[in-house]
Amino acid sequence: MHKDIERVLYSPDQLRQTVHALGERINADYTGRSLLLVSILKGAVVFMTDLMREISIPCQIDFMAVSSYEGTRSTGEVRIVKDLESSLEGFDVLIVEDILDSGRTLNYITNLLRSRNPASIRICTLFDKPEGRVAPIHADYVGMQVPNEFIVGYGLDYNEKYRNLPYIGVLKPEIYGV
Ligand code: IMP
Ligand code: MG
Repeated sequence: MHKDIERVLYSPDQLRQTVHALGERINADYTGRSLLLVSILKGAVVFMTDLMREISIPCQIDFMAVSSYEGTRSTGEVRIVKDLESSLEGFDVLIVEDILDSGRTLNYITNLLRSRNPASIRICTLFDKPEGRVAPIHADYVGMQVPNEFIVGYGLDYNEKYRNLPYIGVLKPEIYGV
């Protein structure tokens, strides 16, 4: 285990099972549709690459990168750093996100993508922290509900570190610099 990790919350095996189950649901729900997986960089990239391999129906993928304006988290205003390449017209868009907390980021992105006339738009998040919710956003597919605790690994970072850990863990308190 990494020296900065206090405890492991989800092992690689638990994550695999969760992602597999999500893939089965998506396969069933999107058969015969024009599925486009839209992943939000960078946090969701590990989840995306595992999830897409659990999807056996035809699908396309695309990525976008956003960053929250510093100090404006309360408005949920985000800046698009990299936009999608696909036109969404006619696609059944499934947003693939790592973790849904306040919901501000996804609220902004969902509204933006909806304005581009996709056939449908839904959200798949690996982790959901319902206690943190501020914006009126709910995910259609949720891997696991997690307590209001800061987690890292499997794509999730703290100051850009720990994304490469193959498990989900909680950092030792001294790492957060409290
Ligand atoms: P929201 O706009 O508050 O829902 O923010 C969601 C984003 O915050 C995620 O995409 C993550 O980048 C980040 N985030 C929220 N909770 C955590 C966590 O526990 N660990 C790492 N990143 C988190
Ligand atoms: Mg993120």
